[in-house]
Amino acid sequence: MATYRIRHCERLGGEVNLHTAKNAVLPILCAGLLTREPLTVERVPMLTDVDTLTEILTDCGVEISRNRDEVTLWSDDPRSPSSENLLSRMRASVLVMGPLLARTGYARVGLPGGCAIGQRPIDLHIKGMQALGAEAQYTPGSVTLQGELHGGSIYLDFPSVGATENIILAAVLAKGSTRIENAAKEPEIVDLCACLSDMGARISGSGTGTIFIEGQPALHGCTYRPIPDRIEAGTILCAAAMTEGSVLLRGIRPEHMRAVLYKLSETGVTLRESGAGLRLSGRASQPVQVRTLAYPGFPTDMQAPMMALALRLRGTSVFLETIFENRFMHAREMTRMGALIRIEDRIALITGGHALAGTTVTSPDLRGGAALMLAGLAAEGETTLLDPAGHISRGYENLPAMLRELGAEVWEEEQPENVRG
Ligand code: EPZ
Repeated sequence: MATYRIRHCERLGGEVNLHTAKNAVLPILCAGLLTREPLTVERVPMLTDVDTLTEILTDCGVEISRNRDEVTLWSDDPRSPSSENLLSRMRASVLVMGPLLARTGYARVGLPGGCAIGQRPIDLHIKGMQALGAEAQYTPGSVTLQGELHGGSIYLDFPSVGATENIILAAVLAKGSTRIENAAKEPEIVDLCACLSDMGARISGSGTGTIFIEGQPALHGCTYRPIPDRIEAGTILCAAAMTEGSVLLRGIRPEHMRAVLYKLSETGVTLRESGAGLRLSGRASQPVQVRTLAYPGFPTDMQAPMMALALRLRGTSVFLETIFENRFMHAREMTRMGALIRIEDRIALITGGHALAGTTVTSPDLRGGAALMLAGLAAEGETTLLDPAGHISRGYENLPAMLRELGAEVWEEEQPENVRG
């Protein structure tokens, strides 16, 4: 449970350092199941999703030691997780399937529940494992896969990030070569493949739609520093664009987020890349059209923060969410602040440029919660953001602190249970 207070803010200025990408770290931690030698992951962000995954990996027989932001892990004797409630707490836990199957020939994982943003099926994950020789058996709430893995060819009906990662995590130890067609191209996929290659895997084509993997008998350890978080970067840039000001993001990889940067430029802000990082200055004013797509298209995870920015754009912006079926829940909360948003199935029409009033709103999911925090900056007065499920701390190490570093008045209210007696 968390409660945030956000005050109106006319100007953000200063500089912040980005954290390491949640969606790169999670699959890379699962690679700890693939090796008997220590894999050390550097700069691991302090996120509850990371905490949950390390609990699950420990349950899978992975030895894990954590020294501040450095996590070292390996597994001599991996096994399927025993605690199903843990698995249901985080969708990315499905990524233990591929490595467990590759190491032990057996994997039983909970069917991760859908979440607020959509049904979140794993049929493409299962299809990939079957193409590598596994047999799948469904039992209520879980699926069991078993078989000795061999190379295979897989066509993904949708370039699923998780399915691509799971298949790669399985194929690296399969006997023979594997080809994945219509694979996801996200930077986090490229990062996972770079880490696995440092562990001795033979992978080519990552970042393209066709990935080749030559299975190896074993992988060794390595030390790896994952990429910065492009969604955290985009979230901060949207906050800066909503307010007059000048913000420098250090540690950013602009080449990972061209669609977001182009869309921000269309709103009228100035973006300048330099050796120090990326600087955004000016205030956004022009309405935009946003269509979420698989990478390199506009990322669905940036749809909500960009909608918060659209509240400040003079005119009507049009959003089309093509990836998840229920990813506009933040819009309903924004209308409670006086936002003019019309939803028609997967299309949202936002008429921005007029005053919003601070009130009490509730975070519906991770990115929606962050978007409501940004909307509070634009609203008159003070906004109370309730986050009963703790969504925001799942994916942002400390968003309020980053915004405060830029001059915003955003803080997390002490919770009675947290208040030390
Ligand atoms: C990853 O989720 C990210 N999570 C999500 O970020 C992100 O929104 C998503 O990719 C899309 O970019 C992590 O990396 C931990 P998908 P994932 O498989 O792998 C359908 C955040 O906010 N699909 O690419 O679950 C699915 O229903 C989170 O950080 C199938 O139909 O996404 C959806 O419509 C939210 N069958 C679409 O593909 C499958 O087997 C995209 O899903 C798998 C997916």
